[in-house]
Amino acid sequence: NKGHYEHYMQKEINEQPESLTTTMRGRLIRRGSNIPKSVLLGGLKDHLKTIRRSRRIVFIGCGTSYNAALAARPILEELSGVPVTMEIASDLLDREGPIYREDTAIFVSQSGETADTLLALQYALDNGALCVGITNTVGSAIARNTHCGVHINAGAEIGVASTKAYTSQIVVMVMLALAIGGDTISYQARREAIIDGLFDLPNKVREVLKLDQEMKDLAKQLIAEQSLLVFGRGYNYATALEGALKVKEVALMHSEGILAGEMKHGPLALVDENLPIVVVATRDACFSKQQSVIQQLHARKGRLIVMCSKGDAASVRPNEHCRVIEVPQVEDCLQPVINVVPLQLLAYHLTVLRGYNVDQPRNLAKSVTTQ
Ligand code: UD1
Ligand code: BG6
Repeated sequence: NKGHYEHYMQKEINEQPESLTTTMRGRLIRRGSNIPKSVLLGGLKDHLKTIRRSRRIVFIGCGTSYNAALAARPILEELSGVPVTMEIASDLLDREGPIYREDTAIFVSQSGETADTLLALQYALDNGALCVGITNTVGSAIARNTHCGVHINAGAEIGVASTKAYTSQIVVMVMLALAIGGDTISYQARREAIIDGLFDLPNKVREVLKLDQEMKDLAKQLIAEQSLLVFGRGYNYATALEGALKVKEVALMHSEGILAGEMKHGPLALVDENLPIVVVATRDACFSKQQSVIQQLHARKGRLIVMCSKGDAASVRPNEHCRVIEVPQVEDCLQPVINVVPLQLLAYHLTVLRGYNVDQPRNLAKSVTTQ
């Protein structure tokens, strides 16, 4: 049921304040004033010790689910101190990459049925790793065959391009980082700030959704383009990949997410006055590096669209021709949840304006159950 929306993708983008609330329900604990706030993931509580002791955590997934894990990687590394590596499921299988008994392998999959991810799960089970699932589908193959896991509880997602599952997956993995991180004193203030940020996140998503008309206007400007680049780094490298994936999947426009730190090692050659480039430059530890990326792209006459934190337009805009998307600022590790929303809206409006099928893009399937 699409309610008053024209497409499922549009509905699912707009219901993210609610889906995120459901994802967090009963899992964030705010006790009395003297007791620290904490996170309770029922499905993991008996396994946290083993996960903390593992030699490495490996995230495994495909498509949007891989990108969600990439967004959560920095905070998991920071709070757990355990090395975290990333695997695209098919690539792990192609290489038969090493997976050990001392590893925790975390399988991220909205459907819980993706063939590549399932085969990688079988491979990790055969190699003796602790296998954890993060899925939206109770009773799915990944939920059944992992040792433990967390349901993201985002509600059914119908649009082939994943939107609300992406943001709920990130939130679950931030909660996972808090749960694995335990309660060391040195991280207490950081942990509490993140938990407060999680409580407030649905409100902030409601705020960023108000950019809908602005993103429709931007889509009108980009309607006839051949290509769109998206630059991000740190927490928002994933935002760049996921924003580009949305545009590619549904608007059928070539789009590439680029790690801004790699700009000089190739992508800079593409920059001219015609190619539109989105630069994600919201406030975090990478902000000044992104400011210099903007300067360098501007020096090559790049056609820039900069995403920045509210109030920062003047400090990021190289001249008045540069378009700016201002978004609410949240805790750095939660910022990818906010930043992806305008890009979801952009992809949606581009698709409608270009006259393509939003909910069932050409050649794609919601759940890829064959290899
Ligand atoms: C569970 C209940 C929820 C109830 C809550 C109350 C289910 C599905 N969930 O939620 O309805 O409100 O207790 O305390 O009945 N699992 C995997 N692999 C996965 C995902 C999950 O093995 O990929 C396992 C978990 O380890 C856990 C079980 O499935 O044993 C349920 O997981 P989850 O729904 O996340 O647990 P709770 O949030 O505790
Ligand atoms: C398909 C979907 O390719 O599978 C994508 O079209 C999705 O939207 C990918 O990201 C992975 O799916 P899942 O269910 O494993 O998260």
